[in-house]
Amino acid sequence: MTPAPLPTILQLTPLDPTYRADPHVVLDDLRARCPVHRDELAGSFILTRYEDVRSMVSDRSLWRDPIKAEPASRMGRGMEAIPEGVPRSEASSILTLDDPDHARIRQPLTQAFYARIARFRPEVERIVDEALDRIDTTAPFDLMDAFCVPVPIDAIASILGVDHSRLGEFRDWSEGLIQGLNPFRTPEQTEHMERANTALTDYFTLAIADRRTAPRDDLISDMTCLQAQGEPISDTELRINLTALLVGGNLTTTDLIGNAVRLLLLNPGELAKLRADPALIAAAVEETLRYEPPVDATGRIASRDMTVGGCAVTTSQAFTFFLRAANRDPERFDDPHSFDITRARHPHVAFGGGAHICIGAPLARLEAQVALPRLFDRFPNLRLANPDEAAVWRTLPFFRGLERLDLRA
Ligand code: HEM
Repeated sequence: MTPAPLPTILQLTPLDPTYRADPHVVLDDLRARCPVHRDELAGSFILTRYEDVRSMVSDRSLWRDPIKAEPASRMGRGMEAIPEGVPRSEASSILTLDDPDHARIRQPLTQAFYARIARFRPEVERIVDEALDRIDTTAPFDLMDAFCVPVPIDAIASILGVDHSRLGEFRDWSEGLIQGLNPFRTPEQTEHMERANTALTDYFTLAIADRRTAPRDDLISDMTCLQAQGEPISDTELRINLTALLVGGNLTTTDLIGNAVRLLLLNPGELAKLRADPALIAAAVEETLRYEPPVDATGRIASRDMTVGGCAVTTSQAFTFFLRAANRDPERFDDPHSFDITRARHPHVAFGGGAHICIGAPLARLEAQVALPRLFDRFPNLRLANPDEAAVWRTLPFFRGLERLDLRA
């Protein structure tokens, strides 16, 4: 019998109903049959094996800037929109920059951001408790809308020092910005995104100027202070990368919390273990990141001719690493499709790796580690409102999160 054709990139996104229902049916088959697979539609090599993904994502000699990818690559498309004469670092965030610009901008941003996160726990506790206070439990409620969406937005607003009086606007802009990740947005959603982009550009431009003259206790002031001490980072670069913290951090952390709540409710034995031993919370968050990572894939570009998994790759060809597939590789994880918060630890790749490893990982972990125990403590009888109904997953390519999570308390 002729084997079924290998899936194209379109069949590896939640736009495809089979993938949306259970991505691992497709990914397991692809990993078993062709772990390094050239997809002509994506113009990219798709990698699904843990060992390959781990070593390639950590390889700092590979490129990230899509402008360096061959024209056939999906990563290379849309680059013609970049205005001529504008330095890459003033057109793109660290996500798609290479060294030396990447290191020049990421280093001071990390220094300031991590110092804040290290003392941020009490503030996250306050934000989580306030979100819990607002939930009306007299009827079934959508946890995504009531809790998982606002907590990360309010957390980053606090880090950036957004005034309380502007929090409503800031929440609206953050949600508008997320439409930038949605290739199928409606005209209204596009309008929301464009309005949010303009408003945030104006907001950050003013805030940077303001903090330079009157510093406060926030990340923007930390960064203007580092600029004053000689860090070579321009105001435009700063604004683009502050915006990147919103784009990169909100939806992903929303989905981490939502996916964790759903998994714990579907696996009462695991929830019982966590209730019996609250110290397991860090492990429960890591197991959620392994088992149901919010981001499916990341990418790099070959900076030299090379051989990967027996395939010849030439300079400028692109790679797409399926982090989700790597996290369930049976060669690396025993019983990979079981959700087990006490499994012997093996590092997942949900945050990528190497030079571009997620800068927000400590914040996402902190938020989830605070939010989950407080939610389950506040509502000891928390349960799915419609336990017989299938999960409603969003269709946004390369992300895995719930459209809604209807619960009763
Ligand atoms: C569970 C939540 C999150 C997940 C699963 C996630 C996942 C990722 C992944 C896979 C990458 C690419 C890494 C690579 O290519 O090696 C990344 C990069 C990035 N993330 Fe996150 N992220 C999360 C939360 C956050 C948060 C909270 C922020 C900011 C507040 C953030 C900001 C960024 C930025 C700015 C980058 C680009 C870093 C660089 O290229 O140097 N992320 N993230």
